[in-house]
Amino acid sequence: MTQTSDASTGKKRLFLRSWGCQMNVYDSHRMADVLAPLGYAPVDAPEGADMVILNTCHIREKATEKLFSELGRLRVMKEARRAEGQEMLLAVAGCVAQAEGAEITARAPYVDLVLGPQSYHKLPELVARVSRAGGHVIETEFPTEDKFDHLPEASAPQGVTAFLSIQEGCDKFCAFCVVPYTRGAEYSRPAASVIAEARRLVGQGAREITLLGQNVNAYHGEGPDGREWSLARLLAALAGIEGLERLRYTTSHPREMGDDLVAAHRDIPALMPFLHLPVQSGSDRVLAAMNRGHRAEDYLRIVDALRAARPDMALSTDIIAGHPGETEADHEATLRLIERVGFAQAFSFKYSPRPGTPAAGAPGHVDEATKDRRLAEVQALLRAQQAAFNASKAGQAVDVLFTGPGRHPGQLSGRTPWLQPVHAEAPAAMIGRLIPLRILAGHPNSLSGELLHPPNPEQHAA
Ligand code: 5AD
Ligand code: SF4
Repeated sequence: MTQTSDASTGKKRLFLRSWGCQMNVYDSHRMADVLAPLGYAPVDAPEGADMVILNTCHIREKATEKLFSELGRLRVMKEARRAEGQEMLLAVAGCVAQAEGAEITARAPYVDLVLGPQSYHKLPELVARVSRAGGHVIETEFPTEDKFDHLPEASAPQGVTAFLSIQEGCDKFCAFCVVPYTRGAEYSRPAASVIAEARRLVGQGAREITLLGQNVNAYHGEGPDGREWSLARLLAALAGIEGLERLRYTTSHPREMGDDLVAAHRDIPALMPFLHLPVQSGSDRVLAAMNRGHRAEDYLRIVDALRAARPDMALSTDIIAGHPGETEADHEATLRLIERVGFAQAFSFKYSPRPGTPAAGAPGHVDEATKDRRLAEVQALLRAQQAAFNASKAGQAVDVLFTGPGRHPGQLSGRTPWLQPVHAEAPAAMIGRLIPLRILAGHPNSLSGELLHPPNPEQHAA
């Protein structure tokens, strides 16, 4: 098999496409890192690429169909390249790869490599196997060894706001969810390696780090002292890193919201007053059918405790409309819970059966029209809450971390502590800095603001 390279750079071109969650985006960066020593450099289109990796997501609808239609398009490019005597290695990674395995190469025999999320550190070896032997390689085992330990250090700087994966997998087995089957058992990365990566990110210019995990608040990694560290303990250690201004973590499960983590929101100023905490439903019947392991009142108690610990705490959530067994009364209970909490932001989905999950085979599936209507009601309420939350910031002084240029010349964009996007006129030198702004207006999806202390033009005259 010929391996060609970009004549101008001597590099092989790698195109990575990522669907789904932040964990997948993070994993895609790491796959690029692990392939860099083999001469692969990322490009932003699949045309003419030497290798294409599709990093898939299986959590909601039609992931498999989307994948095969994308593969169909890539097949044409691969054949065109082959006609020119060149190769395009095609790899499918992520949760669809994990779930479908050999099904993928059976339906799309031109795919060279199928690899699950636990195997990314083996990419160089797998690529070599494909290149040497031809044929497909399918790698969807859950090896006991630690993928994190085998991945190289992140190379490309992520910028002002960076993501850091600290935990993977899930043992919760919510009835609707594929994650426990595709990402495997819960695993926490040792604290020392998390802290080392955080220091490196800050050294490369990160001012905000978001810790990632499917069940991030279930974190229980080995500490440098040999003891098990909770997420609260890890956050306290990370908060000590010079130059790191903001910390966040996502996604959390209500069952893992321990007292120490609630207290961390009181005690660690760098920990932002915004939490994504999926509730899924406001009905105890549905929560039980979902195997969530908590009731509506448990969720409300956590929200109250967080707000007592940090009065400016804002919440985000995930809601599923029309889970099997959901009645009109259950749906009403969800609307009431949303009203009671008042979310700053939220994601809501129509239930879609994931093959192999308990909910897919459960009785009481809700018809599509009812699911659509319930989702629309949930979304109308959540949209109004988000708009009200954004509007409530108008007139306030808020610290904004500027992350890059804004929509218009002379503008920068940034984020509030509550993750709201903000646009304001500001000099480019403020990118990467926390700057106090006065919020002028709250729009449905963003805020506009002005510098509280505009630079003095006289100072610049000289
Ligand atoms: N149907 C609809 N939504 C789902 N989610 C997970 N599985 C399903 C499904 N089968 C949603 C949950 C989860 C979010 C990431 O995706 O709300 O929190
Ligand atoms: Fe899926 Fe539930 Fe695990 Fe979240 S906690 S990843 S919804 S099984």
